[in-house]
Amino acid sequence: MKDILQAPFLVEMIRTTDNMYNHGWDERNGGNISVLLDEKELAEYLDLDRVIRVIPSGFSAPELAGRYFLVTGTGKYFKNVKYAPDVNLGILRISKDGENAELLWGFSDGGKFTSEFPAHMMSHVSRLAVDPENKVIMHCHPTNILAMTFVHDLDEKAFTKTLWQMCTECVIVFPEGVNVLPWMVCGNNEIGIATAEKMKTARLVVWAQHGLYGAGKDLDEAFGLIETAEKAAELYLKIAHLPWKQTITDEQLHLLEKQFNIKAREGYLD
Ligand code: 13P
Ligand code: ZN
Repeated sequence: MKDILQAPFLVEMIRTTDNMYNHGWDERNGGNISVLLDEKELAEYLDLDRVIRVIPSGFSAPELAGRYFLVTGTGKYFKNVKYAPDVNLGILRISKDGENAELLWGFSDGGKFTSEFPAHMMSHVSRLAVDPENKVIMHCHPTNILAMTFVHDLDEKAFTKTLWQMCTECVIVFPEGVNVLPWMVCGNNEIGIATAEKMKTARLVVWAQHGLYGAGKDLDEAFGLIETAEKAAELYLKIAHLPWKQTITDEQLHLLEKQFNIKAREGYLD
C-alpha cells in the first residue's frame, strides 16, 4: 500500500483547506468540503474491505451507493487540517442502500462528517446529473458575499448581474450565474434538498447571511469559482455607496459571450 498522506487528493485537500483559511473564508469550524474519489486510485492507498465504523447519514442517497468521498469533519477547523489530517478529514463509502457512510480512513478521534453532509451529498447527485465530471462540493463563509446578502436584493438575476458587472471575468467564469437561497436553518436535510435543487442550474449557490457553495471538477475549479464571486462582491461593497459613472453593460456582456464562446444564463441579458 502506498502512503495515503502522499496521495494527490489528500495533499490537494490539505493545501486547499489551508488556503481557504488564509483567505478568511473559514473561521473556527466554518466551511466544509467533499471530494468524490476514484475507487481504483483509492485502492492504491487503502484496503477498501476494512470498514472502521458505519455512520448513519440521516438521509438516503442511493444514486451515490458505492461511491467514495473525502470529507471534512464536523466541528473541525480548516486551519488545523494540515497538522492532523487523519483527525480532521475522513474517507467514506456510501453504503449499498445509500443510507450509511462507511468510514475507511480518518476521523480518528471518533468524529464524523460535516453537519452539512446532506447538502454535500445531495448536491453531488444534482451536479453529477448535469456534469459527470463534477467531483467537488465546497462550502465556506466568504466575508464580502455574506455582507452583500444584507444589502443587495436576493433575486437571483439581480444578484448575478451585479456580480457580472463588477469584473469582466465574472460572466466568463460563471456564465450560468449564481443561485440564491434565503436564510434557512443549516445542517439539516431541508437546506440540503433546497441547495441540491439550486445546484441543478448553477455551480454557485449563495446561502443568505451564511455563506456560499461552489461545485467543480476539482478543488481548484470550485475554489476559483468562489474566489471570483467573492472578489466581485468585494468590489461591489467598495462602490455600492458611491455614485457610479459607468459599469459593464449588457451589450458588453454579449460581446464577452461571443469572444469566449460562452452563453450567459437564458433571460439574464437584455
Ligand atoms: P461543520 O463544522 O459541521 O462542517 O459546520 C460548519 C459550517 O460551516 C456549517 O454550515
Ligand atoms: Zn457554514
